[in-house]
Amino acid sequence: MTNIETIKQKALSAIEKIETSKEFEDLRVAYLGKKGEITSIMQTLKDLSKEEKIELGKQINEAKTIIEETLNKKRNEINEKLLAIKLKSEIIDVTMPTEKHKVGHLHPCTKVYNEVRDIFQKMGYEVISGPEIEYDEYNFEKLNIEKGHPARDEQDTFYINDTVILRTQTSPVQARVMEKGVLPIKMISPGRVYRSDSVDATHSPTFHQIEGLVVDKNVTFTDLKGTLDDFAKAFFGKDIKTRFRPHHFPFTEPSAEMDVSCFKCGGKGCRFCKNEGWIEILGCGMVNPRVYELCNLNPDDCQGFAFGIGMERLALLKYEIDDMRLLYENDVRFLRQF
Ligand code: DAH
Repeated sequence: MTNIETIKQKALSAIEKIETSKEFEDLRVAYLGKKGEITSIMQTLKDLSKEEKIELGKQINEAKTIIEETLNKKRNEINEKLLAIKLKSEIIDVTMPTEKHKVGHLHPCTKVYNEVRDIFQKMGYEVISGPEIEYDEYNFEKLNIEKGHPARDEQDTFYINDTVILRTQTSPVQARVMEKGVLPIKMISPGRVYRSDSVDATHSPTFHQIEGLVVDKNVTFTDLKGTLDDFAKAFFGKDIKTRFRPHHFPFTEPSAEMDVSCFKCGGKGCRFCKNEGWIEILGCGMVNPRVYELCNLNPDDCQGFAFGIGMERLALLKYEIDDMRLLYENDVRFLRQF
């Protein structure tokens, strides 16, 4: 009996000192395992008398229960301690600064296009697109550029077959819209165009244009000038001046090129404008009556103007980039600057 009491006291004070799961397990085995002290003492019962068995058995069971309960309490304590350590080590400080994500942005050409589009949309223009793979008929014939016309040589064309080409300009969209016969027309048409040019600082076999077309009654050259002057001021700044120089395009008559006063030197002349004081930015003109006829409209019923803007050229000017190739190479170190 004293033996049981001693074992119990020893066990309880040992349990008290347990720190780790390993110590816990060792101790559990030492007392309650198959060869543990309590188990061994149980086995000695068989040699005792019935009364002794009852009395001692009761004591052993009580001791065993207390040891088990104390062990269970200890196990919970250890588990709580381990959980606390784990929680502490896995804590995430959501207020810590994170690595900066690199946010992308729009390509300078896209920015320029968005700006041009917004300016014309505010003036009530609709955006209409046309196919890049185009019929010779729309790209040339209906725009008064017949076979053998010198303008065809200026726009070196990629032919897919005798009648189908990669469009050399966005002007064919004009023919497609006019042909529908719904007036008034007030549209811009942005898109990619193709020319069999080799790559250099100012040329590329593919680039982008924005076409503009207005057709209604009583549209005059003054409307053309006012519209494009407003556009130039909205795009380059309100102090910009414009001038129109006579030019030739087969699909407009009269035709002009529009220059803006150099926004770098204010028109005095500098390296940027090659000492001209002026920079050419677009071609334009009054729609040639012959084009109305070719597109099944009656030239006596309508007047209108058209213009064509080179998107890359605008981007190069606006961002003072001196080589068009930079726009296509997509070197992020370059693009990140805009
Ligand atoms: N399509 C012409 C080109 O690629 C640009 C152009 C000039 C378009 C005058 C027009 C225009 O609509 O009226 O060079």
